[in-house]
Amino acid sequence: MLARDWFYSQRSRIGLDTVVASIYDQKDDSDLRARGALTMLGVKPGWRVADIGCGNGVMATEAALMGAEVDAIDISPAMLALAEVYARDRRAPIRTQSAGLLSFAYQPHSYDLIVSEFTLHHLPDFWKAVAMARIFAALKPGASFYLRDIVFVSMPDGSERDVIGWADCNIKNHDFERDSVVTHMRDEYSTFGWVMERMLTEVGFTLVSADYHAPLHGTYLLKKPKPGEQA
Ligand SMILES: C[S@@+](CC[C@H](N)C(=O)[O-])C[C@H]1O[C@@H](n2cnc3c(N)ncnc32)[C@H](O)[C@@H]1O
Repeated sequence: MLARDWFYSQRSRIGLDTVVASIYDQKDDSDLRARGALTMLGVKPGWRVADIGCGNGVMATEAALMGAEVDAIDISPAMLALAEVYARDRRAPIRTQSAGLLSFAYQPHSYDLIVSEFTLHHLPDFWKAVAMARIFAALKPGASFYLRDIVFVSMPDGSERDVIGWADCNIKNHDFERDSVVTHMRDEYSTFGWVMERMLTEVGFTLVSADYHAPLHGTYLLKKPKPGEQA
């Protein structure tokens, strides 16, 4: 079976994200938050960093301003165009790659850090694990993967209550349209925190921390073990 016609079509997400590109262009303190996260992750000049699902490029730009060599990767050309403008305006040298979690080009063991924020939920679970395995292969031994996404923190029988809490919180506090909340639930692939943790450790990562501090919100810090270290 040579044809890869069974492969997941990542580009089916492009239309939706083009529509929301303007929303992501308006975040205000996202540069400060990104800088804080990158500082916590210990980014140093010369580090090779990839941001997969980089959106409007805030995180990628901040990493480049800290002296890292940055690959800003996104499946949506509209998002990458925003990222290029954002980085250029701040004189941050980022390298963009129009590709997805399942198709980005990489040299094995080459990155010091990979970040991916609010992107993995675009893939069904099988493909999430495939993407995680690719990220694992792309990292140097001892390097980190910083992952944030919308995940369910309850057990399945509590999910309806969680979804309603999350929807109310986003509509009231973050000016989300009801439609975007509905679309997320109906058409995207957020999964349970415990499924995420199991997939991440199954592909070989050491789970350094998993933080579920807001409804349907998971932040994970993973390490690729060095040879001889236990996962
Ligand atoms: C919700 S936005 C998050 C953007 C940015 N990381 C942030 O936190 O502001 C999701 C991004 O993932 C991109 N995306 C969707 N599916 C993808 C895939 N399979 N591979 C890489 N990027 C993808 C979208 O184009 C969009 O830019």
